[in-house]
Amino acid sequence: MEVLIFPDSQSLDRKSADLVESQITTFRDSVIGLATGSSPLGLYQELCRRHQEQGLSFAKVKTFNLDEYVGIPDDHPQSYRTFMNKHLFKHIDIDLGNTHVPNGMAENPLETGPAYEQKIEEAGGIDLQVLGVGTDGHIGFNEPTSSLGSVTRVKTLTEQTFEDNSRFFTADEFQPKLAITMGIKTILDARRVILVAQGENKADAVRDMVEGPLSAFCPASALQLHQRTTILIDEAAASKLQLRDYYQFVGKMQEQLTEKHSPSDWVRR
Ligand code: GLP
Repeated sequence: MEVLIFPDSQSLDRKSADLVESQITTFRDSVIGLATGSSPLGLYQELCRRHQEQGLSFAKVKTFNLDEYVGIPDDHPQSYRTFMNKHLFKHIDIDLGNTHVPNGMAENPLETGPAYEQKIEEAGGIDLQVLGVGTDGHIGFNEPTSSLGSVTRVKTLTEQTFEDNSRFFTADEFQPKLAITMGIKTILDARRVILVAQGENKADAVRDMVEGPLSAFCPASALQLHQRTTILIDEAAASKLQLRDYYQFVGKMQEQLTEKHSPSDWVRR
């Protein structure tokens, strides 16, 4: 697990965008896993800017979103499909037919998971997965005690997640308590993972993810098993890490290495 600590959100957003850009310029038909929530917003803004100002193309890219609420339609203002259209897809040259978000309105939500897994497999698997982390350590909507071997399925949200996400819903709006989410195994199967987290309210989750024991109680700790995960955090989110200085030193060493080797040397399929 590589931990990169940034002094401000602009440098964090630029670095996360660099990683996505390296992937999709090296393999134009890359399959990218996407997350919603406030954490990846800066990354998406930077990708939109690079598309508009530098011609970064998504024309052949396929995407799979991590999760979607059960019981609200695609065009609902709080659906994750709406979020993705608004913050990324409508600003870039991606073919909307190549973008996938789990179907939260399926007649039988229990059947959605296997179908979604099959689509990911047919696309050749996920090359790079973007993640945020919940304050309770969830990734996607894999709440504490989610099986580390789980695949896409319906999950019940914890009270904490429900509360955290209530800021997006108006008081009289229906807020779902169920979601369809990629599983932890689905995420671990991605060839590369980048996770972005900022703010003090993420410090406990970041500590448990990076330095805590591997445990289903902190689903993000499963990333300790992943070979190519980069955690991009700000100082506040890093504030409870014991080996913080070490991670910064590793970052410097890494920079020296990348000066000698082009960033694309780091991109594999
Ligand atoms: C949401 C999403 C996650 C996201 C997390 C953190 O519930 N399902 O994919 O990473 O919570 O959200 P935020 O980035 O807004 O803090």
